[in-house]
Amino acid sequence: MWVLIMQDTDQTVTIGATVPTGFELTAAEEVQEKLGATARVSKNRGRIYFDITTDKLIEVHHLKSLDNLFVVVKEYEDYQFKATKEEVLLDWQELATKLPWTNALEVWKLNNSIRKKKGRRKRPNPTKSDQCENVSAKCPDTVPSDPEELLENCETLEVTENQADVSPNLENDSEEDKPSEPQDQDSELMPLKFRVTCSRAGDKHCFTSNDAARDFGGAVQEFFQWKADMTKFDVEVLLNIHNNEVVVGIALTVESLHRRNITHFGPTTLRSTLAYGMLRLCKPQVSDVIVDPMCGTGAIPLEGAMEWQNSFFIAGDNNGTAVSRSVNNIKHILKKTQDGGSPSGLPLDIVQWDLCNLPMRSSSVDIIITDMPFGKRVGSRKKNWELYPLCLREMARVCKPGTGKAALLTQDKKCFTKALLQMGGLWKKLHTVWVNVGGLHAGVFVLKRTNVIFGISSGDKTEPHTATEAQKENLGDASLSV
Ligand SMILES: C[S@@+](CC[C@H](N)C(=O)[O-])C[C@H]1O[C@@H](n2cnc3c(N)ncnc32)[C@H](O)[C@@H]1O
Repeated sequence: MWVLIMQDTDQTVTIGATVPTGFELTAAEEVQEKLGATARVSKNRGRIYFDITTDKLIEVHHLKSLDNLFVVVKEYEDYQFKATKEEVLLDWQELATKLPWTNALEVWKLNNSIRKKKGRRKRPNPTKSDQCENVSAKCPDTVPSDPEELLENCETLEVTENQADVSPNLENDSEEDKPSEPQDQDSELMPLKFRVTCSRAGDKHCFTSNDAARDFGGAVQEFFQWKADMTKFDVEVLLNIHNNEVVVGIALTVESLHRRNITHFGPTTLRSTLAYGMLRLCKPQVSDVIVDPMCGTGAIPLEGAMEWQNSFFIAGDNNGTAVSRSVNNIKHILKKTQDGGSPSGLPLDIVQWDLCNLPMRSSSVDIIITDMPFGKRVGSRKKNWELYPLCLREMARVCKPGTGKAALLTQDKKCFTKALLQMGGLWKKLHTVWVNVGGLHAGVFVLKRTNVIFGISSGDKTEPHTATEAQKENLGDASLSV
């Protein structure tokens, strides 16, 4: 029987984390800033690694860029895979017996006590939530940054063989994962239940991720005498294979940390970790006015108002249901934080508006951050040809010339780039961060508002505050403040 004896002293361990692809460096920056640790960005996009002492573990759970956490048992930068499946299987068996499990399992146990303190979070209904429009796409070449996202949130995504959750000798069933509560002291002598989850990317392997999870899982089971359970497991062992890089880890999160804010989901709710990354790109300053003019369920302004409480956030959407969802999400967070003893409220207002006619003074906004309709689940590609130029122009009007910034997320890159070219130099593109949004290749375009005066080019001359009849109808008279 395997029994874990906790050490009293803090030890240094390596933590691995999945992050939104494209935002690895942003995440590394946050780790450096908040924990003073230097993170390594994995060759495998969407992962970072950093060393901490175990007394910092709770702080890791509070980082805003990280989706899923695991403690590293062992990393192999250049694992030499044998030529045949049989030989690889023998190697897995040997590997399971010689891995340095002890420290990682101690961290897992410590982590359970943190999880217990935080209280078990309910798993929200995720299927229609994240920004993963109606696509029928193959899995990307690389391992997804958040495999959970691909599996759960992209209803029509065909998952190829990048990931496998397999308990040895058990068929992979379709029931939702139901990890068990962290094991109690009393039940410590019961055999632990476990599963192995394998993510594999690379085309030079003679085995599938299912093979690897099953064979390695069998070896782990034999070594520890644990009980395999696909759905009600205590320990999730991770086997991440990317070409010749192999990382064995133990999961420290049951559900992705990106689910922290939103309770009222919409068809394209953005992950909070991605929202955080976009906000960070714009470096909000004290007293900045930050606008999300197409806020949907409010993922961006909520994340912003919670993390940058000295800035002021204004968000809006032309869809009444989206605005109500945002309001409900804010109310929920306020209730939660008040229950937790922080009655401070949030520096955030939500309005129903049409972005093409914002009820805002010219040159009054410091930063615009928004997630534009991709034209798949929300809007249409055809409408984007009209919408994007109008959006960019109105954003340029309200944004402060010379200092204003914008970070705009879209997958409709062609339309966006053409619209930008029509702006008569009102915006300068600084750079683009390429991100994977639910399996879609999208870009966050980071723009700077130039000194060019709005209204000089012929396209800018229309009076900004005159709403068309259609827009008036669309808006009704709603304007909600929370
Ligand atoms: C991709 S979604 C934003 C999702 C949001 N980030 C979230 O987390 O829920 C784009 C949003 O733009 C809104 N939208 C489209 N056209 C608009 C317009 N002219 N004015 C304001 N909002 C608009 C849609 O209603 C939709 O909610």
